[in-house]
Amino acid sequence: MGREITIFQFRRWLLAYAARIIENESHLTELDTAIGDADHGVNMRRGMEKLQERLQEDAQTEDIGTFLRSVAMTLISAVGGAAGPLYGTFFLRAATSPTNGRSVDLIQLTQMFRYGLDGLQQRGKAQADDKTMIDTIQPAVEAMEAALAARQSAAVVLAAARQAAHLGMKHTIEIEAKKGRASYLGPHSIGHQDPGATSAYFLFETAAEALTTFNSSGNSSERAA
Ligand SMILES: Nc1ncnc2c1ncn2[C@@H]1O[C@H](COP(=O)(O)OP(=O)(O)O)[C@@H](O)[C@H]1O
Ligand SMILES: [Mg+2]
Repeated sequence: MGREITIFQFRRWLLAYAARIIENESHLTELDTAIGDADHGVNMRRGMEKLQERLQEDAQTEDIGTFLRSVAMTLISAVGGAAGPLYGTFFLRAATSPTNGRSVDLIQLTQMFRYGLDGLQQRGKAQADDKTMIDTIQPAVEAMEAALAARQSAAVVLAAARQAAHLGMKHTIEIEAKKGRASYLGPHSIGHQDPGATSAYFLFETAAEALTTFNSSGNSSERAA
């Protein structure tokens, strides 16, 4: 099955995600100003600062399930808005997928994202094309599944996810919001990129970076082939 993705890489992924969101706070706020209530940037930044604090703690004693549950609880309690409980549910459900304790193989990684997506959809009831974070996450997970079925490497599977996530995020510009606050604008929501679809894109962008650089300790920088 090739190399396993370790809890160290999960920590590095979510640290990279927190940093990327914090860098993009004003971008997320601008997007939410156009079609929402201008708080997505601040909501996410607040959550990511809490997440950074949480990730400073030692991960040595944890398995991936425990780790993801703790990430979920941090997001639920610190992000707020519609997005906090939704991202929280994503990680809470991802935490219930099968792992090898402190690592996952590529099949398990893909399944983890699938569990997260299904939980998020059950919670928020949004479908594809409702102009939400689902428009990023669903095509990304489907791209992972397709690349996995084609027996691609982790690097290729995650690159496919990132590319599909990016297309999905950009597609939200063209469609009318059917869920969340932006749906109050009806057709006036067309022409604007969805803020949640944008913050969700960064999950896949940073996953493609952090989860494909293999190491066992979090210190070395050996690259995957
Ligand atoms: N039912 C839903 N399912 C999935 N995502 C949703 C749903 N409702 C809203 N969202 C996402 O949440 C984002 C808004 O988050 P945020 O601004 O933090 O919350 P609020 O809308 O409460 O101000 C939207 O851009 C959208 O992507
Ligand atoms: Mg908002």
